[in-house]
Amino acid sequence: MSLSKEKKSILITGGAGFIGSNFVHHWCQNYSDDQVIVLDALTYAGNRQNLADLENRKQFKFIQGDICDRPLIEKILKEEQVTTVAHFAAESHVDRSILGPDAFVQTNVIGTFTLLESFRHYWNEQGNPENSRFLHVSTDEVYGSLEADDPAFSEVTPYAPNSPYSASKAGSDHLARAYFHTYNLPTIITNCSNNYGPYHFPEKLIPLMCINILLGKPLPVYGDGQNIRDWLYVGDHCSALETVINKGKAGETYNIGGNNEVKNIDLVTMLCELMDELASDLPVKPAKELITFVKDRPSHDRRYAIDATKIKTELGWTPKETVENGLRKTIEWYLNDQKWWQPLLSKDYQEYYQKVYG
Ligand code: NAD
Ligand code: TYD
Repeated sequence: MSLSKEKKSILITGGAGFIGSNFVHHWCQNYSDDQVIVLDALTYAGNRQNLADLENRKQFKFIQGDICDRPLIEKILKEEQVTTVAHFAAESHVDRSILGPDAFVQTNVIGTFTLLESFRHYWNEQGNPENSRFLHVSTDEVYGSLEADDPAFSEVTPYAPNSPYSASKAGSDHLARAYFHTYNLPTIITNCSNNYGPYHFPEKLIPLMCINILLGKPLPVYGDGQNIRDWLYVGDHCSALETVINKGKAGETYNIGGNNEVKNIDLVTMLCELMDELASDLPVKPAKELITFVKDRPSHDRRYAIDATKIKTELGWTPKETVENGLRKTIEWYLNDQKWWQPLLSKDYQEYYQKVYG
C-alpha cells in the first residue's frame, strides 16, 4: 500500500539487477503515477528481460549507461527532474571481488561518488528541495564477521569489512554519510542482510543450488558449511526500502534483516528437500546426494545477523515472509521460469564457474 501520495520522479540505478528489478516492479505496482527511470550498465548481472513487462509503461524509461559517467548522470537528473535516487548499482558478488577487485572499486566507490556529486550540484540548483532523497542501498557485510554468541549488527556496530566487495561498499557508505554531514544532502543508508527470490543471478548461493539440483550437478558448499547468513525475501527488502524512502529521516542509517539466521548446510539441505517435493523428474533424488564440500572462500565471514529494531520501532517495518515460505516461492519461480535462467548459463558463466569451482 502506498505510504506517500506525493508524485515522484525516481531514478533507480542497477534496476536491471536482482534486487533493483524487484524494486522497480514493486514501485511501479504501488506508485503508478510516478516517473520511473532505470539506469543500468547491463553488466553480466544486469538483464533487460527482468523489466520486459514494464517496457511499454508510459512513465517508465530504461537508459543503458554507467554510474561513473558524470555528464550522463547530470543530463538524466535535469531532464527527468529527479526527486529521488534509489541507488542499487554495484558489483555485488564476493567471489568475483576476490578474483578481480578493480571493478568493485570503480563502480562501488567511484560510481557512488559520481552519483553523489552530480546529485549534490543538481539539488543545489533546484534550491535544496526538502522532499528529495538519495537512498544508498548497502549490505550488512560492511560490519564484518560475528562469532556465534556476538550480538547482531546494529546501526552503531563499527565497520570491519573483510572482502574487497564489502570494503568497497563500506567506502561508498562513508561517502553517502559524509555528503549528509558536509553538504546536508538528504542521503539515507540501508544495510541489509542476504536476499533471495526471483531474478537472482545464478552465481549466488540459492539460485546456484536450485539450478544445479535441476541439472543434477554437484552442490558446492564452502568449508564446513557452518557459516551463518540472515536470509531476507527480496519482496520484504523492497517494502523496507519503500518505507525508508517515504518515512526515513535524512542522514540516518537503517539496518534491514529477516530475523532468519540459517547455517549454509541447513539451507542447502532445506532447498534439496523442497526440490524433491516440488520438482518432477530430478536427475538425482534425493537431491541432497549432490551436496559436496569444497575448498573454503578466503576470509569467509563466519556469521552475519541483523538487529532490525530501529526500522521496526521508528518506521514500523517488519518482514512478512518465513524462510520456508520464501524458499518455496523462489523455487517455484525457478521451476516455472526456466526460460529466464537457461540463457544465463553462457560461455562466460561456464568460464566463471571453472575459475571458482575448478
Ligand atoms: P546485482 O549484481 O544482481 O545487480 C547489480 C546491477 O547493477 C546489475 O544490473 C548491473 O548491470 C548494474 N551495474 C553494475 N555496475 C554498474 C555501473 N557501473 N553502472 C550502472 N549499472 C551497473 O546486485 P543485487 O544483488 O541486486 O544488489 C543490489 C544492491 O543491493 C547492491 O548495491 C548490493 O551491494 C546491495 N545488497 C545486496 C544484497 C544481496 O543479498 N544480493 C544484500 C544487501 C545489499
Ligand atoms: P553468497 O550468495 O555469495 O552471499 P555472501 O557471501 O555475500 O553472503 O553466499 C552465501 C553463503 O553461501 C556464503 O557463506 C558463501 C556460501 N556459498 C557456498 O557455500 N557455496 C557457493 O557455491 C556459494 C556461491 C556460496
